[in-house]
Amino acid sequence: MSSPVSDPTGPVPSDPPDESTATAGAGSAGDTAHRSAHLRAAEAAVLRADALIAGYVPGVDILNSCDLYCQEGELVGIIGPNGAGKSTLLKALFGLVRISQGTVRLRGAEVTNQRADVLVRKGIGFVPQTNNVFGALTIAENLEMGVYQEPKRFDERFGFVTELFPRLAERRNQRAGSLSGGERQMLAMGRALMMEPSVLLLDEPSAGLSPAMQDEVFVQTRKINKAGVSVVMVEQNARRCLQICDRGYVLDQGANAYTATGQELIHDPKVTELYLGTLAKA
Ligand SMILES: Nc1ncnc2c1ncn2[C@@H]1O[C@H](COP(=O)(O)OP(=O)(O)O)[C@@H](O)[C@H]1O
Ligand SMILES: [Mg+2]
Repeated sequence: MSSPVSDPTGPVPSDPPDESTATAGAGSAGDTAHRSAHLRAAEAAVLRADALIAGYVPGVDILNSCDLYCQEGELVGIIGPNGAGKSTLLKALFGLVRISQGTVRLRGAEVTNQRADVLVRKGIGFVPQTNNVFGALTIAENLEMGVYQEPKRFDERFGFVTELFPRLAERRNQRAGSLSGGERQMLAMGRALMMEPSVLLLDEPSAGLSPAMQDEVFVQTRKINKAGVSVVMVEQNARRCLQICDRGYVLDQGANAYTATGQELIHDPKVTELYLGTLAKA
């Protein structure tokens, strides 16, 4: 069974969760037993966020006590309606949105609100949804940018990345601006992998691609994960995302609505009705 944390259709902040929906799960402030289960499970995580409150403007919180963890080697998916705060969560983890309460820890060390370039050095890779490559630069130059903090590692990391994505080596002198959407996404992921991240954050890597290319992106994401990189992936293609991820979170109005394995979420009638039906397709 997946774990309803609070009624995602109901009012958000600190309403006591109603009994029918708060019997299990992670992330509900009112649900102590299950929150402590979440905290226990998160103990050895590569990356964990606890009770994050964050937003763009003072006084307007987009994340309302959001929890997340990613274990070593895990592929974690985050789905949820448009505007739920999925991108905000990734940006907060990566130091791009100010966290006013809560903590982010990388291998146990607190990194809350640290600068993105510092987080890159410490082992977090981030691929934003858009503008994630330098169009005027070649593939090789884009990959160099990925490792600008440690240029000596270029050859070694170029080898790793192009083993995963041989096309990047074949076209290393081609400008990124002339690549197809799918190739560009591959390059963006490759660039983020150049610093050998412990955990890779991907924001909607399949967005805007043809169905065939979308499929390829999911296959590639799995491949990256199989190569030993822990991945946290936000996806609008919710069903496909849950199919490939080990564990998923449903984010709604800035808080965890459900969390369970990908398979459990796919087969949960409530999740299907609210987030995987036609209304939730966006
Ligand atoms: N740069 C920004 N400045 C102010 N508000 C923003 C900004 N980006 C997103 N928001 C708001 O934050 C909320 C969550 O957005 P976002 O995290 O992009 O959602 P999702 O990725 O789940 O679609 C939305 O209400 C959106 O309008
Ligand atoms: Mg988004």
